[in-house]
Amino acid sequence: MTAPLIDPFARAITYLRVSVTDRCDFRCVYCMSENMTFLPKKDLLTLEELDRLCSTFIRLGVEKLRITGGEPLVRRGIMTFFQAMSRHLDTGALKELTLTTNGSQLVKYANDLYAAGVRRVNISLDTLDEQKFADVTRWGRLPQVLKGIDAAQNAGLRVKINAVALKGFNEQELPAITRWCAERDMDLTWIEVMPMGEDIGNMERIGQYWSLKDVRAEYENHYTVTDLAERTGGPARYVRLEETGQKIGFITPLSHNFCESCNRVRVTCTGEIYTCLGQEGKADLRAPLRANEEGAGVLEAAIRAAIGDKPRGHDFDYSRQDVGGKMSRHMSHTGG
Ligand code: 5AD
Ligand code: SF4
Repeated sequence: MTAPLIDPFARAITYLRVSVTDRCDFRCVYCMSENMTFLPKKDLLTLEELDRLCSTFIRLGVEKLRITGGEPLVRRGIMTFFQAMSRHLDTGALKELTLTTNGSQLVKYANDLYAAGVRRVNISLDTLDEQKFADVTRWGRLPQVLKGIDAAQNAGLRVKINAVALKGFNEQELPAITRWCAERDMDLTWIEVMPMGEDIGNMERIGQYWSLKDVRAEYENHYTVTDLAERTGGPARYVRLEETGQKIGFITPLSHNFCESCNRVRVTCTGEIYTCLGQEGKADLRAPLRANEEGAGVLEAAIRAAIGDKPRGHDFDYSRQDVGGKMSRHMSHTGG
C-alpha cells in the first residue's frame, strides 16, 4: 500500500493542478504583459514527462486533475496527453479530469475532450461585450469564445464560467452575465483579481479591484441571496439566487479562511511544484523526472519532500497600501 500524501497540517493532497504551457493566444491585462517572453521549449516538461508526473501523483492518491496554462489547448499535442490520462479514469484511480480554458480552441477540441473522459470545463469570460472583451483580453475575440462554449455544451461538457471581477469594467454587466449563465444552464463564479505579476499596473486602464463582498452586495440589489454552507476544499464560497435557483461562486483568494481545508498543489509547465499559491516556496520536480534511470523513487521522494514543506497558508493582504504579499510571478506560470 502506498502512503497517501499528507502535509504537515494533516491535509490530504488529492487535487493536482498542472500547467502545461505558459503560452496563450490571449493577453489578458491582469494576467500577462503585452510582450511576454515565453520559456524555451527545452524547459517545458514533455508530454511524456507530464504523463509520468501526473501518473505518479495519481498513484500517490490524487483523485482530481486540472489542466491549466497559459492556455492549455494551445500546447501542441495536448490531446494525446488527455487521451493518455483517461486510462486513470478507466481504473477509477482518477475521479475527475478537467481543465481551465479561455475557450478559444473548444470548437476544435470539445468532442475530443469529452471522448477522453472530461465532463466539465471552466471557461474564463469576463464580459459579454465584444469591445470590452477585446480590451481585457487584448488578443481575444468574443465570437470565437462563444462558439467554443456552444461546442463544449454540444459535446456534453458541463460549463462553468469564471469571471474576474473588475470594478468599473464588468460591474454593470453582473445581471446580464448572470442571466446569460442561467439561460444556458452554466455555473458562474466570480474571481477576485489577484496581485500577480509585475504588470498589474496594466489593469488600472481596464478596471480596478472589486471586492467580492461588494459583488455579493450588488447581487443583493437584484436578487434574494442565500449563503450556502457547501465547500469544495478550495477557496470558493457559494450563494443561491432564490429567484432563479442559480448557484453563484465567489473565489476570494486573498482571504485566509480556506487554507485550513486546502487539498491541492500546483505544478508549473517547467515542473516546479508550488504547494501554496500565495507563497514563493517551490521545489523542482523536473530534475527528478529527468533522472529516470534511477527509477520512479526519486520523483516520489521529491514530491513527498515538497508536500512535507507545504505552508499553513498565504500572506496576501490588500489592507495595506502596497498590496502586501504581492507575488512576482505571473498567473500563466503557476496556472490559474
Ligand atoms: N487575478 C485573478 N484571476 C486571474 N486569472 C489570471 N490572472 C489573474 C489574476 N491576476 C484567471 C483567469 C482565468 C484563470 C486562468 O486565471 O481569469 O480564470
Ligand atoms: Fe490567457 Fe487565461 Fe491569462 Fe487570459 S487569463 S492571458 S486567457 S492564460
